[in-house]
Formats: sequence, structure tokens, C-alpha cells
Amino acid sequence: MSPVERPRHILSVLDYADDLPRILRRGVELKAARRRGRNPPVLREKTLALIFEKSSTRTRTSFEVGAHDLGGQSLYLSSKDLQLGRGETIADTARVLSRFVDVIAYRAFRHTDVAELARWSTVPVINALDDVEHPCQIAADLLTLHERWGGQFKGRRLAYIGDGNNVLNSLLLGAASVGLEIAAATPKEYAPRPEIVAAARGRAETFGSAVELTEDPKTAARGADAIYTDVWVSMGDEAETAKREAAFQGYQVNDELLDLAGPGAFAMHDLPAHRGQEITDAVMDGTRQAIWDQAENRLHAQKALIEWIFLPSRPARTRSRR
Ligand code: CP
Ligand code: NVA
Repeated sequence: MSPVERPRHILSVLDYADDLPRILRRGVELKAARRRGRNPPVLREKTLALIFEKSSTRTRTSFEVGAHDLGGQSLYLSSKDLQLGRGETIADTARVLSRFVDVIAYRAFRHTDVAELARWSTVPVINALDDVEHPCQIAADLLTLHERWGGQFKGRRLAYIGDGNNVLNSLLLGAASVGLEIAAATPKEYAPRPEIVAAARGRAETFGSAVELTEDPKTAARGADAIYTDVWVSMGDEAETAKREAAFQGYQVNDELLDLAGPGAFAMHDLPAHRGQEITDAVMDGTRQAIWDQAENRLHAQKALIEWIFLPSRPARTRSRR
């Protein structure tokens, strides 16, 4: 396949980062359009396949509902039921599915497997979460912040407290790409990947923001406009549960931490939450949070991403690191 014909994959936030202003504006428009019952039929006569190696509530549901909204259909394929689970290669799976479907979302344990599927697929592949990134989640999070802050990211500060995992990696790249300052507090041994921090810092320099890393949650939270957290034990990390629960003591988003943040600050969480660990019931159930809006915005942001994938024009964009 020539480079011109290469499908527009989304393996990383970096694959859509240069078009974020347009994608976020479309997310707002698509949310309003859905409420008026006017969804654009971008996926008419098209099928979205969903290959999932791990559990999901939000990602699966928002993709299935989104495909239906856009006039297409979705096909949920658990990796356990596919021949993939019996040793058929990812490359062969990609070649076959490309003959049937128009776009594939893949939730995998390993980023290298998502990259392998994209390498062999002749239709676009969307990373629906892997061990390195969660680009769909971060599009929804930025849409939520765009709504809350009237589209103005400059001069705002986002704190992240907890594990330097897939969600933080994508958040660093996304925040830096819209000019939003981000301060992440993680235990030293759970810091985000150095190559992602370097890429985020490069983009922060271009877009006039900053990426700050610390081990102290209070340092990150001070003066923040929003405080984001995620689970201490991600899917695939279960064998380290006891070690992680010990390492993350003190990395909790609670009312005391929110009190240190700026006026009007609110908590964020991609969900599912482990209430009582990384976040308290009081914050989750209170008014100083944007958590349920983030969950709803998975639908609207992913519809904007799907529309973007099928856009005829190809504006200049950054490339995935791998
Ligand atoms: N936030 C998120 O991806 O949720 P699910 O695991 O339920 O899809
Ligand atoms: N970091 C979490 C996100 C879940 C949506 C995980 O990978 O399990």
C-alpha cells in the first residue's frame, strides 16, 4: 500500500493532536445535534468492529451507541471468541477483518499488538486502550474541559495524582497539545514513560504550556483548576496489587486536596473508580467533579474522532511514535 492510501489510524493521542481544536468543536456540535435527533450518517452502510481483550463498560457502550448514531453498525468481538485466542496471528486477523469491516477499535494488553493490527489492516484502527495509551478517553476529557472552560485552555492548570499509566501518558500528550499546563504527582517508581514525557514537553514548548513532574500530590494540586486521578491497579497489573496499594497511600483525590486547588476546581476520573482508594465517595458523589460528564463525553468525542478518520482531506499531522 502506498503511503497516500495508508488508513488514518488512531494509536496515540499524537495521531489526532494537531486537529484537536477541530475535533473538540465537532464534539460540541455532535453532542448538540444528538439532542436534536440530528446525527450525521458518517458510518452509513459501514461496520465498526470492536476487538476487546479486556473488560469495558464505557468504551464498548459508547462505540456501539456511536456507530448506531452515525448510521452504521458495530460488531463486538471478544478476543476469547475469535481465533485470535487460539493462536491465529494478529496480521492474519487484520487482513481478514479488513475485507469485512470499515474500521476496527482494539482494546489490548499490549500496545505492540495494536500497532501490529494497524500495520496489517487496510482499514483504520483505533486504540481502545492498551498498556501505553488511552487516546479515546483523553479526547473525551479534553472535550469536558473545553465545555467547562469555554474552549480556553491557556492559563489553566490540570493536576494528575496517582499512577503514571496509560491514562496519564495520553493526558500528558493531550494537555500539552492544547496549551494546558499539566502537573503530575506519582510515586517515583510509577512515573510516566520518559519518551512520552519528552514528547509532551516538546509539544508544551510549541503550544506555550508546561509539563511538571513531582512525587508530591500537594505540589501538583496547588492552584490547579482540575485534579485528575485513575486507579492504582490497572487491568493487567493485578499481580502487583499489594505492592501498588502500599506505594499509592497518600495519592488520593479527596476534599482536602481539592481545597488546596484553585477556586472552582473539580475532580476528574476516567472510571471505573476504586472508591476509597484513589478517590473518595464524597468527591465522586459531590458537586466538585466532572466525572459523569467525562463518561458521557466518550460518546460525543468518539463520534468526532470517527468522523475525523473518514474526512477526505488529510491535513498535516504528527505521527505516532511507534
Ligand atoms: N474509561 C474507560 O475506558 O472505561 P471502560 O473500561 O469501562 O471502557
Ligand atoms: N488505567 C486503567 C484505565 C481503565 C479505563 C486501566 O488500564 O485499567
